Amino acid sequence: MSRKVTKAIFPVAGLGTRFLPATKSIPKEIMTLVDRPLIQYAIDEARAAGITEFIFVTSRGKSALEDYFDLAPELETALRQKGKDDMLEMLESTNMADGAIAYIRQHMALGLGHAVWCGRRLIGDEPFAVILPDDVIASDKPCLQQMIEAYEETGGNIVAAMEVPEEKASSYGILATSEDNGVRVKVKGMVEKPEKGTAPSNLAVIGRYILTPAVMNRLNDMKKGAGGEIQLTDAIAAEIDGKDGVYGLRFKGQRFDCGSKAGFLQATVAFGLSRPDLQDEFGEYIDALAASRADAS
Ligand code: UTP
Repeated sequence: MSRKVTKAIFPVAGLGTRFLPATKSIPKEIMTLVDRPLIQYAIDEARAAGITEFIFVTSRGKSALEDYFDLAPELETALRQKGKDDMLEMLESTNMADGAIAYIRQHMALGLGHAVWCGRRLIGDEPFAVILPDDVIASDKPCLQQMIEAYEETGGNIVAAMEVPEEKASSYGILATSEDNGVRVKVKGMVEKPEKGTAPSNLAVIGRYILTPAVMNRLNDMKKGAGGEIQLTDAIAAEIDGKDGVYGLRFKGQRFDCGSKAGFLQATVAFGLSRPDLQDEFGEYIDALAASRADAS
């Protein structure tokens, strides 16, 4: 039987250049989707999937992220005194258990594979999840939960996969597949950011992974790959012919690429419209905007 997945690495040491100048002083992961920072969505998804140990790989300038997960005693006292119980409850729901979070520094942004490798001592000899908080996934069953179930069934490495249009393939890691049951595919190859027209399929890997300790061992070799970075994809691809293999899971849910400006804006609209406290006022605005754009065209 495969071991239970209870640890997750959150690589948050990237430079976030696509959101400059905001990311000069604010970590990308603290940027808010409606009223919750991106990192809170990632933590909530992990907790719902049974993760109990949260490993953040951070870098210089990310102290706001550490502060976010600290208690806010003054705020809690003020809310209690004012009888704002619902806000207090919401605030307390973001509190983390003592010792549940560990912060590791990646001293230089050498790539996602390197960031994950920085967490190796805390992972030890266990399977683990990797969550990129830039990818926010709206779904009934948390995406990570779907992946852990696929891991429990197969015992192999699981990457979250979604279909992308051909012209977008060069922005992703793309899977070559040998078996496909419509939900899960057996992976026979992975190419990071293939050149136009060379992608082996339209199945792209997005920022959720369940990995075996063998992948962490592969990262010990750490050779630079696409873009001169140490790529997590390369270490996973090296395990395709390994004991446990690699599977892609077509997860159920909608993924927003909040690492890009357009994706972030789309997520803001979608999450805003799904919120009961906002949907009337915000929905009216969006409808009026759509109507005036239609009239203008
Ligand atoms: P991105 O490719 O989105 O890079 O990294 P980035 O630096 O965050 O953003 P841009 O492209 O400059 O705007 C994907 C994920 O991998 C992490 C990032 O923090 C992000 O969660 N990462 C990337 C690291 O932790 N370390 C690295 O060396 C590279």
